[in-house]
Amino acid sequence: MSNDSSVRQIENLVTEALSQINGAQTLSDLESVRIRFLGKKGSITGQLKKIGTLSNRDRRLFGQAVNAGKETVVKRLGERLAEFNAINQNTALTTGWVDVSLAGRNVGTGCAHPVSRTINRITDIFRRLGFDVAEGPEIEDDYHNFEALNIPENHPARAMHDTFYVEPRGVLRTHTSPVQIRYLATRKPPVTVIAPGRVFRCDSDLTHTPMFHQLEGLVVDRDISFADLKGSLIYFVREYFEEDLPVRFRPSYFPFTEPSAEVDIGCVFCSSKGCRVCQKTGWLEVLGCGMVHPTVFDKVGIDNYHYTGYAFGIGIERLTMLRYGVDDLRLFFENELSFLNQFR
Ligand code: DAH
Repeated sequence: MSNDSSVRQIENLVTEALSQINGAQTLSDLESVRIRFLGKKGSITGQLKKIGTLSNRDRRLFGQAVNAGKETVVKRLGERLAEFNAINQNTALTTGWVDVSLAGRNVGTGCAHPVSRTINRITDIFRRLGFDVAEGPEIEDDYHNFEALNIPENHPARAMHDTFYVEPRGVLRTHTSPVQIRYLATRKPPVTVIAPGRVFRCDSDLTHTPMFHQLEGLVVDRDISFADLKGSLIYFVREYFEEDLPVRFRPSYFPFTEPSAEVDIGCVFCSSKGCRVCQKTGWLEVLGCGMVHPTVFDKVGIDNYHYTGYAFGIGIERLTMLRYGVDDLRLFFENELSFLNQFR
């Protein structure tokens, strides 16, 4: 092969390399071009293999041509690389910037469920009256849920409780009253306590759900009278509704209290005039209460000659509905955000 044609071949390769470098669209295109021409097996690099077939004089000229060609290609590669880097840097600057004046993305904050909110609200009121807060187990035994509360086997009151039974011999507590028993069994009077929590009844319709919430109250000391009960509960009701509502104590029956009463307030929807909610009576029932039955004291070993007490039970969902004007119990358990968000 003549030296002239070898040198021309190099020139052609260099021209081809330059045109591919100019056509490269990305950094990796550019790298491919480099490898294709200048890599270990690249076509320009490969030219050096010919050197052994040439005469001494031709060898020098040919070597110079290869080196010059390489240099041209390397230089152009460097320029193109610098162009790419500049472009990349610009893109980074224009796409990666943060407009600090833009409004922030809304991070939805949660809020307490209306039932929790009512529990907190009621708890705050009773704390101000000096009440402690206690809890009891949701799975109870027959003794604490019924027997010790003066509801023996076959007592008609059991029928009202629609009990869920759990194996082997437990029940889901049907009210928070068993906390009274557990609390008294481990303490000596004076006792001033409330106990909020879940309760369960096998009942489900428009106004009943199988799980709901109650808040129990218990005060035991020497000389506790019905007047103490009335004073505390009237205070509670007026604080809770933030209104000087009429309150009445209507005689009732609970096995664990004697005497027993239900507390009614003047209807908050019609100002006692009579409406659909109060069924035209002007009154709304809000809780049950009474003086602790001597039999209950016997069960927990408290001397019922020297000690007296009062107790009460509040339905949390009912009080929430009355305060916030919620007319459907099921809303509390469906967890629709459109409903819950109103309690922010
Ligand atoms: N445990 C009763 C119920 O679930 C509510 C109740 C009434 C609790 C009177 C009391 C009370 O402590 O004195 O219906």
